[in-house]
Amino acid sequence: MRTVDLITKKRDGGQLTENEINSLVKGYTNGSIPDYQMSAMAMAIFFRGMTSTERANLTMAMVHSGETIDLSAISGIKVDKHSTGGVGDTTTLVLAPLVASIGVPVAKMSGRGLGHTGGTIDKLESVPGFHVEIDNATFIDLVNQNGLAVIGQSDNLTPADKKLYGLRDVTGTVNSIPLIASSIMSKKIASGADAIVLDVKTGDGAFMKELAEAEELATCMVDIGNRVGRRTVAVLSDMSQPLGNAIGNALEVKEAIDTLRGVGPADLTELCLTLGSHMAVLSGVASSKEEARTLLEQAIANGSALEKFKTFLTAQGGDASVVDHPENLPTAKYRYEVPAKEAGYVASIAAENMGLAAMLLGAGRATKESIIDLAVGIVIHKKIGDSVELGQSIATIHANSESVNEVIAQVYESIQIQGQAVTPPPLIVGEVK
Ligand code: URA
Ligand code: CA
Repeated sequence: MRTVDLITKKRDGGQLTENEINSLVKGYTNGSIPDYQMSAMAMAIFFRGMTSTERANLTMAMVHSGETIDLSAISGIKVDKHSTGGVGDTTTLVLAPLVASIGVPVAKMSGRGLGHTGGTIDKLESVPGFHVEIDNATFIDLVNQNGLAVIGQSDNLTPADKKLYGLRDVTGTVNSIPLIASSIMSKKIASGADAIVLDVKTGDGAFMKELAEAEELATCMVDIGNRVGRRTVAVLSDMSQPLGNAIGNALEVKEAIDTLRGVGPADLTELCLTLGSHMAVLSGVASSKEEARTLLEQAIANGSALEKFKTFLTAQGGDASVVDHPENLPTAKYRYEVPAKEAGYVASIAAENMGLAAMLLGAGRATKESIIDLAVGIVIHKKIGDSVELGQSIATIHANSESVNEVIAQVYESIQIQGQAVTPPPLIVGEVK
């Protein structure tokens, strides 16, 4: 089978067979197919798309390009959650202990990654002593014992995706829905999920800014999951403003603790209850979303979700005293308030720019080598639709530097205030299953 024939077939709108896709992915992974041919193929896919069968085959070919995690020693249906990424997204920190506390086993493989703030692991590492360097056997034991553990991402998962994603990044082919969908789903499946709940974000701070695109991506991923025997549900959620109030690593841990205690931001709480309900239904712990939601609300109200978080932190070396004493988390040296320059209503909060402001403070990584400052970040005090008085603080900047003028300017630029009342955007904008 000549690679050039596969490229021309796709270029002319043909459908690649399972065999052809397998040989393409295998050849690219082992180096026998060069980058220039795979670039041409990615571009052909970008313009011609892929059928549902092709997408499922591509996903499974990437799953089998490397190691796969076997979670069969954990009893129960393992449901994983994936978010397409946003600004100040603290959901995993809340969801993992929350659903574990009602009996959904959580065997979470997580990453650090680039972005406005660190990944879930960076955030958790702001708890003194907490670590994810545990071996697979310990990981599985901890999930069986406590219902919850987090381990660092293995470097050996889906090497085909790693290589292809890198190539797409420099060939203008990232933004292809079949390629994104198979990339994301291959990683979830390789890390052992039996069922998957997807949180597909839409709006300014999201990868998919338009709702129609986000819907298409969600539909594509759900279709792949269901075709390859992993029950999959997607929730479409709004990212036209940051989620919750905190953007920053330790600040988000504090926000997660507040949410597990029942006093967190309304939007973060609602999203966690929605995603958590789907997880509980897919895992069989509840028979309906309504029943699941009641169980989750009870776990917050009776303290078992928070207790689960403490058990989890302790089991992985973390100092669980931070739960009752958040001042034991890394704390920035300086705080600056950002007073409103006018009275009115918050019309918009540019999520992406707020993320960049947090990044300027050092909360995120620009390159893989960057060292992140776990203490710094921004806490916003207003959300879209809230009323604001002149001079009232709209945000607090937590910094380890005295030169924050650029950050303050960025925050002002990101938060628009207007005279007329504003209707807040709905948080949950759709569901695909
Ligand atoms: N995230 C991924 O993991 N893969 C993509 O292709 C795009 C976003
Ligand atoms: Ca947040």
